[in-house]
Amino acid sequence: MNTNRNQALESLYREVQQCTRCVLHTGRTFAVPGAGPIDADIMFIGEAPGFHEDQQGIPFVGRAGQFLNELLEKNGIDRKKVYIGNVIKCRPPGNREPKQEEVDACLPYLERQIELVNPKVIVTLGRYSMALAYKDEKISVIHGQPRKVSGRIYFPMYHPAAILRQPSLTPIAEADFALLRNVLAGNVEIEEFAPPPQVEQLAFF
Ligand code: URA
Repeated sequence: MNTNRNQALESLYREVQQCTRCVLHTGRTFAVPGAGPIDADIMFIGEAPGFHEDQQGIPFVGRAGQFLNELLEKNGIDRKKVYIGNVIKCRPPGNREPKQEEVDACLPYLERQIELVNPKVIVTLGRYSMALAYKDEKISVIHGQPRKVSGRIYFPMYHPAAILRQPSLTPIAEADFALLRNVLAGNVEIEEFAPPPQVEQLAFF
């Protein structure tokens, strides 16, 4: 069974690597489709590749990635067992924020990744991936507040790069990760979230 899903994921990666759906393909060294096992229970979703990710074609390998690794390790989460993806698969020039048309062009890839991996928990890192699951909400308000929607847990967190830029967020991020660890251990009861009508438009839900 996993063989078919792995093949589907590999074929998605090849599509991403050859993608020309938006202007970002013109400046990329490598597209960064995502990484991790097909049967991962947990998926982390960041924003877009930075310099090092573009050079290597692998998500979260630069400074923010090292910091993410530290947070994972401190909380006993094995990076090899998690799936890591991004909303945008090609590096925006100068690491500028992704444009809406770029998000729209790239989103079908992420949706297919979520469908194939079918994780029990999705951790959104930063505003861009959060915005796909939480409409009109602020990360400063909802970070660290998991929600269950259709049986899947969504867990919004600050982006590691934001924490590096703003060190006062460090204890907050550490507390969020500690809670995530408890959620993964099944120690936290999370009620099914009753979404307001507008969330039906959202990608993840
Ligand atoms: N920041 C992201 O959002 N994704 C990466 O892959 C690297 C840095």
